Amino acid sequence: MPRLFLFVGADQGDWTVTSQRTLAGEGLAPVSAVTMLGTEAAPGSGTWALRGITSNERYVERAEKTQLLAVQEGLSRPQARCAALIPIRKTAAWWALTQDERRAVFEAQSHHTEIGLRYLPAIARRLHHCRDLGEAEPFDFLTWFEFAPEHTSAFDDLLAALRASPEWAYVDREVEVRLSR
Ligand code: HEM
Repeated sequence: MPRLFLFVGADQGDWTVTSQRTLAGEGLAPVSAVTMLGTEAAPGSGTWALRGITSNERYVERAEKTQLLAVQEGLSRPQARCAALIPIRKTAAWWALTQDERRAVFEAQSHHTEIGLRYLPAIARRLHHCRDLGEAEPFDFLTWFEFAPEHTSAFDDLLAALRASPEWAYVDREVEVRLSR
């Protein structure tokens, strides 16, 4: 399994952009399509290219992990013809917190995993980290989701719930690219 992924926004690609909007901070140049490439050596091409790497978990506790593993499904399900790429950056204040303080905001205050679990297995996800790839990365995370068209409104509800949580007070750049194939 590759760990480094590249998301290329361009005129053409695997996923057609159905909407692109900026929720916080600077946007991304509008594109018509996004392609996700799992490669260690992909050249930069397209209007923009964002890279991120999968990593070990930071916040999840054993009981949550057991629940996640029991219900979550993987990417590339044939019925999952909708996707979302949501690049996110968090504030300096977030990164200045200690691990226990971040976990408290993430779960005790915001219930991120508890809320997210309600939307499994309909929504499949993969989290990519950017922060440790270098200093020039424009986002801290590239979040990727796949679901069947009939679960679009559930996904909208999930986004609304997470964005209303205390964790999102620490988000200072967020772009939402909705896709279909
Ligand atoms: C991190 C679950 C949806 C954005 C996490 C983590 C879990 C999780 C367990 C922590 C991983 C770790 O321990 O390091 C879920 C589930 C979801 C969901 C089950 C349901 C589909 C979302 C959505 C967004 C999102 C819709 C974006 C709008 C993030 C971000 C992180 C994260 C940015 C990294 C937080 C950080 O490290 O500071 N998610 N999530 N998640 N999730 Fe979600």
